[in-house]
Amino acid sequence: MTAGTAAGAAGGFDTVLVVDFGAQYAQLIARRVRECEVYSEIVPASITAAEIVARRPAGVILSGGPASVHVDGAPSLDPAIYGLGVPVLGICYGAQLIAEQLGGSVGPNERGEYGRAEMTVARDGGVLLSGLPSPQPVWMSHFDAIADPPPGSAVTAATEASPVAAFEDPGRGLYGVQFHPEVEHTPHGRQVLERFLRRGCGAGPSWSMHSIIDAAVAAIRDQVGEGQAICGLSGGVDSAVAAALVHRAIGDQLTCVLVDTGLLRLGEADQVEETFARHFGIDLVRVDASEEFFGALAGVTEPETKRKIVGEQFIRAFERARRQIPDAGFLVQGTLYPDVIESGATTHSSTIKSHHNVGGLPDDLDFELVEPLRLLFKDEVRAVGAELGLPDEIVHRQPFPGPGLAVRIIGEVTPAAAETLRQADAIVREELRNAGLEREIWQSFAVLPDIRTVGVMGDERTYGRPVVIRAVTSSDAMTADWARLPHDVLEAMSSRVIAEVGGVNRVVYDITSKPPATIEWE
Ligand code: XMP
Repeated sequence: MTAGTAAGAAGGFDTVLVVDFGAQYAQLIARRVRECEVYSEIVPASITAAEIVARRPAGVILSGGPASVHVDGAPSLDPAIYGLGVPVLGICYGAQLIAEQLGGSVGPNERGEYGRAEMTVARDGGVLLSGLPSPQPVWMSHFDAIADPPPGSAVTAATEASPVAAFEDPGRGLYGVQFHPEVEHTPHGRQVLERFLRRGCGAGPSWSMHSIIDAAVAAIRDQVGEGQAICGLSGGVDSAVAAALVHRAIGDQLTCVLVDTGLLRLGEADQVEETFARHFGIDLVRVDASEEFFGALAGVTEPETKRKIVGEQFIRAFERARRQIPDAGFLVQGTLYPDVIESGATTHSSTIKSHHNVGGLPDDLDFELVEPLRLLFKDEVRAVGAELGLPDEIVHRQPFPGPGLAVRIIGEVTPAAAETLRQADAIVREELRNAGLEREIWQSFAVLPDIRTVGVMGDERTYGRPVVIRAVTSSDAMTADWARLPHDVLEAMSSRVIAEVGGVNRVVYDITSKPPATIEWE
């Protein structure tokens, strides 16, 4: 498979480049810049002045990063970048780096400054801070502190531990803030960023849902031309939005494929078909492959083997569907910007490895990839989906693993077990929705372990399976905490599962965070 040129490349937008000195900071800054309706991209610290010139950005932001510019191997920046006439804002480590590289000084602090601090703004708060309240709370996280800003700069704010909490030299386009304007704990942070963007860089609001969609549509048309594309729909948000966007661009040159694995959530395949085939009028090939999936999974209990079987069956089903669309030369994938960043590619490189979002497609499928979401963060994808008219249930759907219910049935995956779990899972999600908690919870679902316990129902002794409820809060699934669901919500889930799902006589709640556990049980 080859990756196409960046469908959806942000041609024509004012761009602010965020130099990555520490990945979590850079991503959050890039998202905040986009919330100010300015397009942003993350670039590595190794970027050269010539590469920056070639990108013609409206501004550059240096992210936070390591504790100190003095630690061994602390990353630096090509100093020629400061002379390009492109405004530069340094945040935390980025501000220290500007001071260090341009003739100021950074010294060790006695105790560092972590968490909330009161910042006093100078009488002339300059471009970034004038007119904002003083004192104001800001979020700090640094050990060293700037002692002197670069010569010619004005110090525009201070805290007790940071004599230079902000400095600027607008004539040279240099700005530095020791605090973190990108975090919620800095209440005026957004205004500071917005001032840098609007006043410092002259970047107007242009990155809006409409312009994102227009640019993506133009890029998709450009890439696909008169060709035919196919898109696998998994029921998840990303593939749904990618399909809707590509359909907006090329209409009936797109065919969607829906593989009903027998391991989807209750009503999911029908809902996807309803939305895409009936509502959008998209050509949809639905393959009912559940018999093949259950046949191949019969007798298998080892988790990795189950995953492998599901992956193989998925490819077979997809290939069967593909025979009905012999001319398709393009494959649409819902790869997101964080996947692109994590794979080390830039949005302009064509070497990105494909992320096999559609359940794991093989590399030898002869397609050119169309990745219309590869510049977007998840919240932007949801907003685009809503703008394109996708229903709430799809746009705000919780993440669902590619192998589906197979990873939530412990032991053998049979049609009966899948049906039991599907019913229980639907109740868990419905009760969470009824309680108005669906959007606060990262994932909430039922798991069917491979054990039986004794119970009593009426006068009858039972010997049934328990259902485990798993609900977690998280921001990226790398870590997660078990959700403190109200007892009455758990009670509603439990009594409904027992009453409505045959063969289940006990409901338990998983109170383990990740780590040490994982989100899924497998
Ligand atoms: P774990 O269980 O590792 O899951 O804590 C982290 C996140 O990844 C999802 N997940 C998957 N998603 N294909 C996917 O697309 C998979 O095979 C898969 N396995 C786990 C899981 O639901 C959680 O959001």
